[in-house]
Amino acid sequence: MIKLDEGTMPVHTDDGKIILIDQRKLPESIEYFDATDIDQMCFAICDMVVRGAPSIGVAAALSMAAHLKKLASSQSARLSVSTFDQVKEKLDATRPTAVNLKWATGEVHDFASALLNENPTNKEFGEKVFRFAEAMLLEHLARNKKLSDFGQSVVPQDARIITHCNAGSLAACGWGTALGVIRSAHINGLKPQVFVDETRPRNQGSKLTMWELTQDGIPATLICDNMSGYLMNKGEVDLVITGADRIAANGDSANKIGTYSLAVLAHHHGIPFYIAAPLSTIDANIETGEQIPIEFRNKDEVRNIEGKPVTVIGAEALNPAFDVTPNHLIKGIITEQGVLTPPFKQSIKDALQRNCASK
Ligand code: MRU
Repeated sequence: MIKLDEGTMPVHTDDGKIILIDQRKLPESIEYFDATDIDQMCFAICDMVVRGAPSIGVAAALSMAAHLKKLASSQSARLSVSTFDQVKEKLDATRPTAVNLKWATGEVHDFASALLNENPTNKEFGEKVFRFAEAMLLEHLARNKKLSDFGQSVVPQDARIITHCNAGSLAACGWGTALGVIRSAHINGLKPQVFVDETRPRNQGSKLTMWELTQDGIPATLICDNMSGYLMNKGEVDLVITGADRIAANGDSANKIGTYSLAVLAHHHGIPFYIAAPLSTIDANIETGEQIPIEFRNKDEVRNIEGKPVTVIGAEALNPAFDVTPNHLIKGIITEQGVLTPPFKQSIKDALQRNCASK
């Protein structure tokens, strides 16, 4: 297992191969999935071998780079921007909500297109593009750590925190976003305790978040998704922090289904609700959350648990994988450019500008 100080790395490269931790198998076993071939990677993203917006982005970027490198290595290869478009489209089609996917393949596309103008040999081209994608992996780690440092300012001593889904090292390609903030708070002696929503239907909370927190020795208590109101009403929650898969220019944030309900409950009980996400999760091209495409997944994920039916045969079911929390329910968005506060339209714009200037 790749276990660094940074947490468990869900994606890594090994001599040109792209290796994923198979997140479908955790926590029962740690298994690896070779996604070097682009079709294997598309399957891995769709089937959630690799999941979590930033991790999907890095995995797709590496896949695009590996595929271009492979094309470049064939004798007769004539590389063109239209080839880059096709490869990008194929990867982008795997999951619709997480914008990090399109952002990451866009970065590789831009880099490859600019490189083409320098007339490199095919070998040089392939190597440079792959190295560029590999660098994105480490950059994520640095950005997650930075946002987690900023996030400390919102975590009180001994905070009792609810989180939803998995926004840890596995989802964010190192350290984590929501869990990154919690991990840093733990290391800094703030003694956070975490209530972990199980996150039906895929149970990323009970399987992945509980696994990560247990590995780090952070006190964690598993709850069903319908228990947070009870806890909040009893005064047992100080803070809610979740990740995000896409944030609109006005701060409306899409995250794992159930996040919206949590935000409404937090608002009702006067409990601060924060989103933690890198700036690559912001989609400045869309004004509000209404424009965020919501992925609907196979209904069997709802009808079954661990492959076993939990309802009547032929039951109708609904399986939206994400919901959108409107900006007025969000106290702050924790990013690598600081904790953004309302009005988000302005603070997001400023943060993106600062980010561009710092490159
Ligand atoms: O469907 P998933 O597991 O890929 O869902 C994405 C997520 O992991 C969550 O919504 C998460 O909170 C944001 S990504 C760090």
